[in-house]
Amino acid sequence: MSLLEVRGLSLWYGDNRVLYDVSFSIGRGEVLCIVGESGSGKSSILYSILGLLPPNARLEGEIYFDGVELTTLKESERRKIRGKGIGMVFQEPSSYLDPLFTVGSQIAETFEAHFPEGKKESRERAVNAMRKAGIPKAEEKFGMYPHQLSGGLKQRVCIAISVVCEPSLLLADEPTTALDVSVQKRILNLFRRLRSEGKSVILVTHDFGVVAEVGDRVLVLKDGRIVEEGNVYEIFDSPKESYTEMLLSAI
Ligand SMILES: Nc1ncnc2c1ncn2[C@@H]1O[C@H](COP(=O)(O)OP(=O)(O)O)[C@@H](O)[C@H]1O
Ligand SMILES: [Mg+2]
Repeated sequence: MSLLEVRGLSLWYGDNRVLYDVSFSIGRGEVLCIVGESGSGKSSILYSILGLLPPNARLEGEIYFDGVELTTLKESERRKIRGKGIGMVFQEPSSYLDPLFTVGSQIAETFEAHFPEGKKESRERAVNAMRKAGIPKAEEKFGMYPHQLSGGLKQRVCIAISVVCEPSLLLADEPTTALDVSVQKRILNLFRRLRSEGKSVILVTHDFGVVAEVGDRVLVLKDGRIVEEGNVYEIFDSPKESYTEMLLSAI
């Protein structure tokens, strides 16, 4: 059984339909990339999985995570899965950090929220997550406030938050956009490491360079529809759709 299975997902914001019968699945230890132009619905797929849609949204279809159908779960149940079972790195993650608390305490707090019995080890867990996210001198950075860190470091703090509970599925929305190449490398390394631990990643990106480095399988999304799906080699060697070729030629 796949770790995540999305069946016939359709989504509307008010009268505006943005997803059309989207179906895909992801196995354990797999990195699935979703590529497509801006506005094609990539982020909307991730928000649908997380159950973080705005009030005007209407969703049809089914989403199974580890055998549990998510779309009909109560909010209290979904909240337990978010963070612990499914981690998320948002598109503009730094804005999710609270300026009034040290970054370390924000990571530790996420751990404690899901593992209340783990208070004693939360600091150690947080520092480990920071290291995993590629933060140098993690111990020192633990006590710093968001404004004391560069954008790239704040981004990695958000990644540390998303992995501190060791979720089996990580959703990452353009996590390496606007980061310099060395930082990008560290983050891509993290995805490889998660995969080697049997964890799964859905990576939204418009950067085929990133796809080539870490992707196993690719979904190509256009105007809310999957127009092509295949393993990374197939997509690079013989794209079936001219749209995919167009995206590829943008590298
Ligand atoms: N909260 C919202 N309310 C209404 N329309 C939205 C909302 N969020 C996104 N959209 C629209 O849905 C479409 C898909 O957006 P999105 O999923 O963010 O695409 P992508 O991540 O591929 O750029 C776009 O046309 C966007 O304008
Ligand atoms: Mg987006």
